[in-house]
Amino acid sequence: MNPNQTFLHNTLNGQQIASLQFLKALPKTELHLHLEGSLEPELMLKLAKRNNITLPYASVEAVREAYDFHNLQSFLDIYYQCADVLQTEQDFYDLTWAYLLKCQEEGIVHVEPFFDPQTHTARGLDFKIAITGIYNALKDGEKKLSISFGLIMSFLRHLTEEEAFECLEQAQPFLSYIVGVGLDSSEQGNPPEKFTKLFQAAAEQGLKRVAHAGEEGPSTYIETALDTLTVQRVDHGVRCTEDDKLIERLIREQIPLTVCPLSNTKLKVYEHMSEHPIVGLLERGVNVTVNSDDPAFFGGYLLANYMALVNDLNLNRAQAAQLAANSVSSSFLNDNQKQIHLNKIKDLTQ
Ligand code: HPA
Ligand code: ZN
Repeated sequence: MNPNQTFLHNTLNGQQIASLQFLKALPKTELHLHLEGSLEPELMLKLAKRNNITLPYASVEAVREAYDFHNLQSFLDIYYQCADVLQTEQDFYDLTWAYLLKCQEEGIVHVEPFFDPQTHTARGLDFKIAITGIYNALKDGEKKLSISFGLIMSFLRHLTEEEAFECLEQAQPFLSYIVGVGLDSSEQGNPPEKFTKLFQAAAEQGLKRVAHAGEEGPSTYIETALDTLTVQRVDHGVRCTEDDKLIERLIREQIPLTVCPLSNTKLKVYEHMSEHPIVGLLERGVNVTVNSDDPAFFGGYLLANYMALVNDLNLNRAQAAQLAANSVSSSFLNDNQKQIHLNKIKDLTQ
C-alpha cells in the first residue's frame, strides 16, 4: 500500500487520529467502574455453579441476549439480579482480579472502582465479605501488576438515607480500605440532596466524595451534587450540556466529569455515539475523563470506549492524551504519583 494513503487515512485536518497502540501506551486511570458491572457472563455462570444458584440463563449467549436495555432502570434490574452469584470472599476476589487483569492488558495504571455493599447486605451477606475479597485482590494487583488503587464505597440512592447511614456504620472497621464514598442506582426522583447529612458525615470521617449526577437526571442534580454533597468529582454529568452557565462553572472550577460513552449509548442517553458530547466538552475546556462504567454489560472496557470515540468522533492523539492526562489529574493519587504518569503522557506526545 502507498504509505501516503495510510497517512491520509489516519489524519483529519492535519491531526493524527489516535491508534489503538497509542491509546494502549498512554498511562490511564479508570475512575468510574462498578466492580459488579465487570462480572462477565462466563464468570457469572461459573460462580452460579460453584454456589448452587439457579440463574434464568442457561448459557453465555442467553445472558448476552438479555443485555438489551432501553434505559438505566432496565439495566439495573438485571445488574442487581446478576450480583446474586457473588456469595463468598473468594467470589469478590475473583471478580476484582479478572478486572485488574483487563486493566493490565489495557495500560491502566491506577483504578478507583466502586462497589455497592447494600446490594450484598440486602441479600444477607455479611458486610465484610465483599469488602475483604475486593480489597485483597486490589492489594495483590498493586503488588503483582503495579496497578495502584483507591476503593470507593457507593450508596444506593433508591434506598433511604437512614439505610445508607447503616452502611456507613458497618464500614467503620474498614475505613482504611476505602478512599471515599459514591452514590449510584436509579437517579430520577432520587436527587443528591436526599443524602446531604450522609455525605457530611463521610466528609467528617476524612472520606472523599463522588456522586452519579446528570446521567438520566436533570442538570440541576449536578449542581446539587456539588453544593450539597461537596463532591470532588461528578460521575457521568453529561446533561450539563443543557445549561451553559453550569458548563462555565465546570470549566472555571475544573470539576472532573467521569464520562462513560458506551454506557450512555447502551442505556439510550444518546441514540448514537456520533451524538455524544464528550469531545465537544473536552474542546471547550471541561475536565472530562473516559471510563467504562459496567463493561461486562455495555460491550467493552476502557480501550473500547476510547476506540468508540476514535471511530465515531474522530478522536485525535492530542485529544486522547488530554483525556488520559485528565484521568490522572482527577484521581485521588498524590501530586508526586500524578506527575510520574503525566510526564510519561507528555513523552508519548512529543
Ligand atoms: N448509573 C447508576 N447506577 C449504576 C450505574 C450507572 O451507570 N452502573 C451501576 N450502577
Ligand atoms: Zn456508573
